[in-house]
Amino acid sequence: MATRVLLLMALALFIFPVATATLHVKGSVYCDTCRAGFETNVTFYIEGARVGIQCKERKSLKVAFYTEGVTDSTGTYHIEVENDHGDHICECMLVKSPIKWCSTPDSGRDRSSIVLTHYKNGIVNHLHYANAMGYLRDQPLPQCHNLLKYYLADSDF
Ligand SMILES: *[C@@H]1O[C@H](CO)[C@@H](O)[C@H](O)[C@H]1NC(C)=O
Repeated sequence: MATRVLLLMALALFIFPVATATLHVKGSVYCDTCRAGFETNVTFYIEGARVGIQCKERKSLKVAFYTEGVTDSTGTYHIEVENDHGDHICECMLVKSPIKWCSTPDSGRDRSSIVLTHYKNGIVNHLHYANAMGYLRDQPLPQCHNLLKYYLADSDF
């Protein structure tokens, strides 16, 4: 009996802080100045870009949770989520670019799936990284033509 109580107490101590801990989601937003569809060495990271995190119910696909954040001077956002969303389908998404000439979301890089749960394969994890998301510059920079030749030649396909 005593062992069982101790075990329960240990279990509660283990589970309680995890269940109430905050999840941290980090990622970045860039401006693809070459309209390349990927980050190049003339890509820059956008400060003040608004990013949303949306979670939907798996069955009904109804939106169950939504929050927003803004990128800092390095183009990185850091959004805190209070509850575990392991039962939901969650993704980060571009909301708004502060730069007029770089505000067209790259349709291939405008969202990023994330699994918002503390438990993943039995490992407790509070920090979640989303893939970088990007906007396309209205006009590619003049040097992009040569730059892309270099990038595509380098990538062996
Ligand atoms: C980007 O890479 C290309 C190819 O290596 C190079 O010629 C160019 O100078 C680089 N540009 C910057 C801004 O680093």
